[in-house]
Amino acid sequence: HHISNHCIIADDEKGHDLDLFCVPRHYENDLDKVIIPHGLIMDRTERLARDIIRDMGGHHIVALCVLKGGYKFFADLLDYIKSLNQNSDKSVPLTVDFIRVKSYCNDKSTNNVKVIGGDELSNLAGKVSLSDIVETGRTMETLLSLLSECNPKMVKVVSLLVKRTPRSSGYRPDYIGFEVPDAFLVGYALDYNEYFRDLSHICILNDQAKEKYKV
Ligand code: IMP
Ligand code: MG
Repeated sequence: HHISNHCIIADDEKGHDLDLFCVPRHYENDLDKVIIPHGLIMDRTERLARDIIRDMGGHHIVALCVLKGGYKFFADLLDYIKSLNQNSDKSVPLTVDFIRVKSYCNDKSTNNVKVIGGDELSNLAGKVSLSDIVETGRTMETLLSLLSECNPKMVKVVSLLVKRTPRSSGYRPDYIGFEVPDAFLVGYALDYNEYFRDLSHICILNDQAKEKYKV
């Protein structure tokens, strides 16, 4: 039988009506469905924290946040890791770093992945890189080759979401929160041209909104 190490959101997942959850007024007409409610994101993130701590042993972790889309996931995952660290006999020292990548325009990946920032990239501790979503895999592959030039002891990639898409390079992160259908998702810091980061739930953007916020 098949053991999966992440939650799978099926292609025919109906999601939830927007009216059943709290969604900002200014986005009411832009979204189709709530596909991953905030509470479910948090519950899954709590478990990822436990799995990561279990696997990292006593290594010092440099948690690298891939901005901007990864900021919510980063903050919430680190809160769960901190909570494990302060409530058990074993604990893992943790420092943080931030890097910014940009590759998207409208709902399409451009072939050009820009990387900005990151001050501790050359430090030799184990790194855990935290990202919002992997689609083609290009962003993470670019980042990983950049990190490998600094010879870190180990690098693990955690991505909240991985998209099932024929555009994927085949790249898989070490830890995955949810595998999701091939749709454009927003919320929980995932954006469409910088909008929708201020939405708690992960939702499917409708076509009308893609036009409305197009650049
Ligand atoms: P990749 O390089 O194709 O794997 O794309 C990864 C990056 O594209 C992510 O870090 C996001 O910034 C962006 N991205 C890909 N799919 C989505 C989506 O459905 N919603 C919002 N951003 C996305
Ligand atoms: Mg983006």
